[in-house]
Amino acid sequence: MELWEEYGGFYDTVNTSPPYRAMLHEVYRELRVKDGDTVLDAGCGTGNLCKLLVSGGTARVVGIDFSPTMLKTAADKLKGSGVKLLQMNLDARLALEDQSFDQVAAVHSLYAVKDPGPVLGEFYRVLRPGGRLVVVNPSPWARPPGGGLFGGSRVARMNSINSVIFQKGMTKEFHFLSPQRLLELLTAAGFKQVRMKPTYGGNSILATAVR
Ligand SMILES: C[S@@+](CC[C@H](N)C(=O)[O-])C[C@H]1O[C@@H](n2cnc3c(N)ncnc32)[C@H](O)[C@@H]1O
Repeated sequence: MELWEEYGGFYDTVNTSPPYRAMLHEVYRELRVKDGDTVLDAGCGTGNLCKLLVSGGTARVVGIDFSPTMLKTAADKLKGSGVKLLQMNLDARLALEDQSFDQVAAVHSLYAVKDPGPVLGEFYRVLRPGGRLVVVNPSPWARPPGGGLFGGSRVARMNSINSVIFQKGMTKEFHFLSPQRLLELLTAAGFKQVRMKPTYGGNSILATAVR
């Protein structure tokens, strides 16, 4: 949590990264949101995907995250947008109804949880049958930060935190999952029609799956 609280103070610099913006748009397309759908952004951070989701039509959007600092920036950004932001820990049972979402997105948040299997189980539980999941997660072959993913004046601070995240990925405290492992976890959670492709400059995997 402390890492994310520290990161939350300047995380939004990520918006200056063209690969990040491109990845979010890819996630948005893959979610296939229709008017009236209800979408969960799990580990929403500063609310950038939530913003994209509400800009596209009449979807109802819920963003959850455990970091108050991330959620504060998200709340400021999304004021008046109708997006519902809730403080929630992905490591626990989510305080959300069974089968209450048409889509769930987890963008660069699954790697940080204690155990991805039960978290995917929770995503399955809250999705309606036929609902879509989109996960973006760093691959074990992610390059160390500093490779030009970020731009702007806060690049050094961004890179220092990303180095910590990268180290935690290398020591397996964070779950940088291979496509095969991600497939196993998604299948074990009950998901079907799993597809994967590289995203975020080749550093992450974008997986889509259907409940
Ligand atoms: C790298 S940021 C990604 C934020 C956002 N999805 C994006 O793409 O910009 C990871 C986010 O996951 C959140 N997070 C990490 N572990 C979490 C947990 N156990 N429960 C809830 N949120 C968590 C962090 O607070 C942070 O906002």
